[in-house]
Amino acid sequence: MNTSDLTARLAAVVCAVEAELARLLPEPHGREASLLEAMRWAVLGGGKRFRAFLVCATGELYGADEAACRRVGAAVELLHAYSLVHDDLPAMDDAELRRGRPTVHRAFDEATAILAGDALQALAFEVLAREDWPASAEVRIELVRGLAEAAGSRGMCAGQAIDLIAERESLDLAETARLQQLKTGALVAFSVDAGALLGAAPQTERIPLRRFAQALGLAFQIRDDILDATSDVATLGKDVGRDADAGKATFVSLLGLDGARAELLRLKQQAATILSELPRDTALLHAIFDWVTMRQT
Ligand code: IPE
Ligand code: IPE
Ligand code: MG
Ligand code: MG
Ligand code: MG
Repeated sequence: MNTSDLTARLAAVVCAVEAELARLLPEPHGREASLLEAMRWAVLGGGKRFRAFLVCATGELYGADEAACRRVGAAVELLHAYSLVHDDLPAMDDAELRRGRPTVHRAFDEATAILAGDALQALAFEVLAREDWPASAEVRIELVRGLAEAAGSRGMCAGQAIDLIAERESLDLAETARLQQLKTGALVAFSVDAGALLGAAPQTERIPLRRFAQALGLAFQIRDDILDATSDVATLGKDVGRDADAGKATFVSLLGLDGARAELLRLKQQAATILSELPRDTALLHAIFDWVTMRQT
């Protein structure tokens, strides 16, 4: 599968998931209108929708229901959007720009940004738990549990906590890899696992898929760190150079740019070996990994 095939597939998912997100987000009304506007600002203003794409791509591998994949993809994007709103706050990365627009606390205010993040996280779980989409109660519970685990103190929040420590204390490579796995890898792994669950993939395949997703999540964050050091605000649509300014431990600060790129290649080979264990056509997953290691935004 070549890059333009992948881009076309991604564009189709972006379109479908954005329509789902626009439907799921409450329309601004009443005294709470600015909270609801801030939620829509955070979610509907662009973004690659990579995590939703992963749910759909993995689901497709196992013939999962497309509407179900869209719903779970939307839930992950709601959770991800919340994480970005809070990540950008003055108490964390103090960022001005996100997806080419002012961050939520700049476009609204800090209290509204905190509440919008809280409400987006709650909405992510609500839309999974609801009965208005094609999934059994068992599958919905499993998804709620899996997303909670990926987002909470054994996943993303733990990673974000260690990420703050990484500005003050020097972490070694193993600790930095763990931090990246938690802050970014956990949600990426959930996305792949959710697609497999929706397609009722056999357990024997869910284990290698999880290892693939771990390599993918780490690669995604290493690429993010490379772009932070090498790209520009106009291309990325978010603040750049902030990791170095904060003196943060990343693969780039520990290994240099060439070392970080070499790590991406190593992970790509590891991912290819894992995918070769799966008894089906994994061209799309290979193409996704390639795209992650080369992406410009
Ligand atoms: C940014 O995620 C935060 C990281 C975990 C690296 P994305 O690069 O997926 O951001 P959007 O959703 O496309 O804006
Ligand atoms: C954020 O990592 C990871 C999250 C869990 C939100 P970064 O702080 O590197 O993400 P960007 O660069 O601001 O998008
Ligand atoms: Mg951060
Ligand atoms: Mg940040
Ligand atoms: Mg970053």
